[in-house]
Amino acid sequence: MSHYKELKKITTHTLIEMKQNGEKISMLTAYDFTLAQIIDGAGIDIILVGDSASNVMAGHISTLPITLDQMIYHAQSVTRGVSRALVVCDMPFGSYQGDSKNALNSSIKIMKEAGAHAVKLEGGFEVVDSVKRILTAGIPVMGHLGLTPQSIFKFGTYNVRAKEEKEADKLIHDAKLLEEAGCFALVLEKIPAKLAETVAKSLTIPVIGIGAGGGVDGQVLVLHDMLGMTKEFNPRFLRRYLNLNDEITKAVGRYIHDVKSMDFPNEKEQY
Ligand code: KIV
Repeated sequence: MSHYKELKKITTHTLIEMKQNGEKISMLTAYDFTLAQIIDGAGIDIILVGDSASNVMAGHISTLPITLDQMIYHAQSVTRGVSRALVVCDMPFGSYQGDSKNALNSSIKIMKEAGAHAVKLEGGFEVVDSVKRILTAGIPVMGHLGLTPQSIFKFGTYNVRAKEEKEADKLIHDAKLLEEAGCFALVLEKIPAKLAETVAKSLTIPVIGIGAGGGVDGQVLVLHDMLGMTKEFNPRFLRRYLNLNDEITKAVGRYIHDVKSMDFPNEKEQY
């Protein structure tokens, strides 16, 4: 049972306290008002307006095409539906890399226009300047290491990252750098469980995993995947809690049947 369920608002400080108290942190993505309101009401700790919206909402094959304004549109819809969870908005590809001034401006735009509580960006030492500069504006930053989807064309595949010592060492180093720079939390995606546990134990900030095993401080999944709305995406780490794709298909099939057979609307369903 959560000691934090009755809490009116989750903050970055609550999350650090949760880590210290050994309470696991729950995090899911959302991109719209209705689902954000439902998962906030269910008691989720963090809602990530992920740039996975590029795949899930817009049907792109990668996260690269989504724009800053599109992320802000999704984040605005989410924040309208949330009263308790911490809302973190992904900084999209091209809005922070290689130019810390651009990173600062993008993050300010997200906070000002979307009402998000924090931003997330991908990468280690390459983006530390951007992290530090965003923090100068008082904006909390979540890091993201391991399989960072904005670098998919560099990686070439969605396979597990940091299996080799050299990449694992770099990841450990990057995690430390991000903590020292002032990140309040870190996402680790699709890396060996042992490595993720080592990183989580070596940091004081919470480490949230996706495909990174159970030795970290919390878990995140893409909402549409865990609800079984997406069918083609079947990584080992994904646990499906519903099969909404089949349920929706059946419901729509019944509706089509009722319309065609003139069963809908009936006497009681009209004025
Ligand atoms: O965009 C996203 O959904 C993410 C999660 C996979 C962590 O970054």
